[in-house]
Amino acid sequence: MPVKTVNDIRTSFLDFFASHKHLVLPSASLLPAQDPTLLFTTAGMVPFKDYFSGVRTPPSRRIATVQKCLRTTDLESVGRTKRHLSFFEMLGNFSFGDYFKKKAIEFAWQYATEFLPFPPERIWISVFEEDDEAFEIWHKHIGIPKERIVRLGRADNFWGPAGESGACGPCSELYLDRGEEFGTDAANRAPGGGGERFLEFWNLVFNQYDYRQGQYRPLAQTGIDTGAGLERLATLVQNVDSVFDTDELAALRNAAAAVFGVAYEGEAVVPLRVITDHVRALSFAMADGIYPSNESRGYVLRRILRRAMLFGRRLGQSEPKLYQLCHSVANIYGKFYPELGRSTEFISQYIREEENRFLRTLGAGAERLEQLLADLVDRKQKVVPGKEAFILYDTFGFPLELTIELAEAENLRVDVAGFNAEMEKQRERGRAAWKQALDLPLEKSLRSEFTGYHTLTDRGKIVALLQGQTQTETLSEKSEGLLFVVTDRTPFYAEGGGQLGDTGFLRTASGSARVIDCRRHNDAWVHLVSGIEGSLRVGEEVELSVERERRQALAHHHSATHLLNAALHKVLGNHIRQSGSLVHPDYLRFDFTHPKALTPEELVAVEETVNNAIQQKLPVATLELPKAEAEKRGALMTFGEKYGEIVRVVEMGDFSKEFCGGTHVQNTGEIGFFIIEKESSPGAGNRRIEAYAGRAAVNALQKRLEAAKTLLAQSSLKQPLRSEFQKELELLESEEELPHRRWRKLLVLEDRIAAAEQAARKEKLKAEKAALASGIEPLVTELLAQKKQLPSGTVLASLVAENRSIAELKSALDRVREREPKALFCLFAPNGSETIFVLGTTQSYCSERNFRLSELLKKFPQDLAVAGGGKAELVQGKFQAEPQQFLHHLSGMV
Ligand code: SER
Repeated sequence: MPVKTVNDIRTSFLDFFASHKHLVLPSASLLPAQDPTLLFTTAGMVPFKDYFSGVRTPPSRRIATVQKCLRTTDLESVGRTKRHLSFFEMLGNFSFGDYFKKKAIEFAWQYATEFLPFPPERIWISVFEEDDEAFEIWHKHIGIPKERIVRLGRADNFWGPAGESGACGPCSELYLDRGEEFGTDAANRAPGGGGERFLEFWNLVFNQYDYRQGQYRPLAQTGIDTGAGLERLATLVQNVDSVFDTDELAALRNAAAAVFGVAYEGEAVVPLRVITDHVRALSFAMADGIYPSNESRGYVLRRILRRAMLFGRRLGQSEPKLYQLCHSVANIYGKFYPELGRSTEFISQYIREEENRFLRTLGAGAERLEQLLADLVDRKQKVVPGKEAFILYDTFGFPLELTIELAEAENLRVDVAGFNAEMEKQRERGRAAWKQALDLPLEKSLRSEFTGYHTLTDRGKIVALLQGQTQTETLSEKSEGLLFVVTDRTPFYAEGGGQLGDTGFLRTASGSARVIDCRRHNDAWVHLVSGIEGSLRVGEEVELSVERERRQALAHHHSATHLLNAALHKVLGNHIRQSGSLVHPDYLRFDFTHPKALTPEELVAVEETVNNAIQQKLPVATLELPKAEAEKRGALMTFGEKYGEIVRVVEMGDFSKEFCGGTHVQNTGEIGFFIIEKESSPGAGNRRIEAYAGRAAVNALQKRLEAAKTLLAQSSLKQPLRSEFQKELELLESEEELPHRRWRKLLVLEDRIAAAEQAARKEKLKAEKAALASGIEPLVTELLAQKKQLPSGTVLASLVAENRSIAELKSALDRVREREPKALFCLFAPNGSETIFVLGTTQSYCSERNFRLSELLKKFPQDLAVAGGGKAELVQGKFQAEPQQFLHHLSGMV
């Protein structure tokens, strides 16, 4: 039988399922249309999420596809292993309320054994540990011996959801046993062991649940979602070493080798694999309209492209080359994916331009990084400073993840928190510098239209550029200082009403830049930019895009601020007036007039009221009205703000009405959660609340839980108390209750842990003291009883104490000195052939009797081998003689 090609597998799979009444659909786009929480289509089921959840009705209850997928979570592994790919194709058959486990298993078995075909006795199965039903179907109905069915846990055999919510359920996987030559150790005895012998080739997911906001709810109707990675499957069918040796990828790999003028062997293997995978991923993504850029999805593509170029550098790349391979991708894949052919030329030119852009800084950046890594390794350092990673990012265009990957290859870690802090610092520096340079030389007539209430991306024209205080026609990568871009239209929110300005990106035909802040200057919107690549010119068309996640976080906090304002009115009374507000992506700060601190009960009531308003999912409406009319509607005004004749009013159901120019959620439900961090006073008559909303609230809770766990781990608490607290913490970690309630409970728990810890410490200290005291007291009494006056008039007391440590001797001496300041004390503890001693008195007795103990020590005869030292009134050490000999010499000296 001739070896099946990748395309044979595609077509036989679709034909098989078509013959079983499945509607065959073409692959959906890599850009998931319905799910904003997903960057890319990551599985065959993604386009069908709404069919599973019942939100939309499928065109058929049985569907089969070969779906383009892009997963970038393991990007750093691509090229280094035999099976990692970023872009891949997934074969899948789906049932929406039609067949379930039995039929799905039958289909998979039949296709695998009759069409691929794999020998039945080499197929192994895994099922979810609790799924007896699937086990029975495989065993009784299909006839797989029990020994070849393994039960695996949640990590292996529960799938989904894709993104933050949606269908998921237990799954069952098919594995091929490649034979004992791949290993017989523990990792290779059965599927799930992690070895090379058993390779998974098909995953059958029995969709049963809908996961949403931390909860699994049963789906209205069960479904089937199966997925088989085409390239991995082909590796097994064609019995080749790696995915890069399957026919289609091998053709692309060979084209890459030809373009780079190297053979696929030795040092060139990893770079060529990387280039093969990455060029394919780029071509497919761009054919679906996702382009390398500075933001979200586009940034992932840019990272892929730049990673490919870094590996290209290892093959001596110094000019654009990758772009040539787009044509090979189109030739190999164009028949099955016609969209590739339609835009090859454009994609190829775009990649070429991107290559040029990065090549300009790649060399310098790569050298800088190589040098830095070598230095750190030399100095035995483990961490790449965040500041360095930031310079590489900001000045040389190295995506952070690339720096991390290259650092990891040298066993170094990158200080990511430090990197983020640098990013924030840059923003802060820009903002601070801007404050001083507020009076920009811009014509008063300059006007920008703000379109950011309705869109986050827009096109406009550059109408002015500034380098510091000077207007200029162009800005480029070489421009230094504060750089400003003014456009005639912009979706960027300019700082105002407490809400910080947006950040994001802008791009023209010849360049791009990061926007790190935006402010209003009269009627002009001024963008503060950094990291320019290429150049920007006055008069050029510009594409502006706001950083979506940050804007969303700002909207969460701004809308939560309105809810908070309203809740304060409801809980405390209508005397509340807003006196200040800061809307930050990570938190909010709200100042208001109120004569005294809030009681804990009031605080909880405010927090609950806000969360209730969130859960009610109130629609948010914005109205533009004459001021008088807005006042009539009872909208709250901020004290001290100036309002025009036409005002904007933001209403959240009947709950809140406020004058406001900020950007908000469309529905309060989007805010998710609200947590008050603290209440304090910024000054007389005012109170201040700092709080978190949305993801920031969840993060804050998680951070606090982590901190509490660390506190507990480091505490000296004993069992069973420790595990009781641990259990309570784990309970708070599970997502059953709303975050703000868990937060409140956590605060109480923290106090209890701290109190228990304090009590335990006190207890321990007391016990230690008591133990010491009870052990030492007899020594003290006995020593005091030994007091004798020497012929010189000095009072001396000495004692031999068996089995005592030097610490005990010293502690006894301290006590005895306190009780009897006018005597010299000596304690001995024999220790093998040596004797340890402590000798001491008070300072005043030293002066009175005119001796210095530290000096005396030097005067003992050598044969006693006295070693030791200390102060005039206290010495310690050891000697090699009987205590009596020591005393004899001592008595003669004091
Ligand atoms: N969604 C499952 C997976 O990606 C099966 O298609 O593995």
